[in-house]
Amino acid sequence: MAAGVKRAVARVNLAAVQRNCVRLRDALTGGAELCAVVKADGYGHGAAPCAEAALAGGATWIAVAAASEAAHLRAVGIAAPLLVMGALTPAEVDVAAAAHADVVTWDERFVAVLAGRRLRVHVKLDTGMGRLGTRDIDQARRAVAAIEEAKGLELGGVMTHFATADEVGDAFLGEQLAAFAPFAEEVKERHPSIVAHAANSAATLREPRSHFDLVRCGVAIYGLDPFQRDPGDQGLEPALTLRSYVAAVKPAAPGQSAGYGRRWTAGEPTHLATIPIGYGDGVRRALTNNADVLIRGRRYPLAGTVSMDNITVELGPDTYVRPYDEAVLIGDGVTAEEWARRLDTINYEVTCGLTARVEREYHRDD
Ligand SMILES: Cc1ncc(COP(=O)(O)O)c(C=O)c1O
Repeated sequence: MAAGVKRAVARVNLAAVQRNCVRLRDALTGGAELCAVVKADGYGHGAAPCAEAALAGGATWIAVAAASEAAHLRAVGIAAPLLVMGALTPAEVDVAAAAHADVVTWDERFVAVLAGRRLRVHVKLDTGMGRLGTRDIDQARRAVAAIEEAKGLELGGVMTHFATADEVGDAFLGEQLAAFAPFAEEVKERHPSIVAHAANSAATLREPRSHFDLVRCGVAIYGLDPFQRDPGDQGLEPALTLRSYVAAVKPAAPGQSAGYGRRWTAGEPTHLATIPIGYGDGVRRALTNNADVLIRGRRYPLAGTVSMDNITVELGPDTYVRPYDEAVLIGDGVTAEEWARRLDTINYEVTCGLTARVEREYHRDD
């Protein structure tokens, strides 16, 4: 029995997260600062360790989507300025306030809900994302005025979010910028110490005019490419690998099948390896007959249906693969971007989809 073999583990290289942040900071113009976005448990990588690595790499802010995520980061000792970017219920406002996190509004009626607590508030202008924020610049101005007047509240920033920053050559980013910049300038004239922020990873890498005072980078800090190509093109290093092991090796004669529904059948004498990881871990079922797994440095095709707890790969007629060999599902050249292409999705969903059952293991470069 091979000691140390693990059923399903996501190994996260925190040195890579740190270097990705240095890379992003080096791209920043005009003294802009880096806010590391670690929502959804750091895009599946682990929020707290990645926040720490990002801060070591020069990030000065941390952002999350939900108040509970801010509370978690404070509980484990993250002391940096924290921004909760998402919508908040009144109960969540209390959680954010207790975590000394900044919050976002776009509506003076919500300012009335916030009033009375000690909170820094950012006003969000919707310049085209069509999600959170107001499209009405007068409403955004009223929200600013309401914060100025409310007891306990302080204006922390003005912000917007881009809809198409990852579509290189698209003109809409420029239109959103043109809508946001005058609002940011107008509010900053009265409040010079607030931060104006707009850029996500793609905008940060693509458009220096989007940098303002702060950029909010998520996907790129994990070494995932916001443009869904090779992260190396942007000088980014994937931080996460997904590993399992070979639990069984068995021959398969012509006509013998593997998996639910018999969606793979041996055409000639071959071997199968069973790997104890499945859609219960985030290996999506749509990868059925549609992925490669690395064993001993070689790619083997996934054969048959992805089950909840197991997959099978075809090894061929002669094989050196043995039980307890390591199986690499993501890493060593198989990227989250490759999975995303096969699944017709984006790399964000691949790593966010790794479930709690997958152990997270942290290391630095070894
Ligand atoms: C408001 C907001 N800002 C910034 C980000 C970070 O985006 P990315 O991961 O593309 O850098 C997100 C993530 O979706 C977001 O919702």
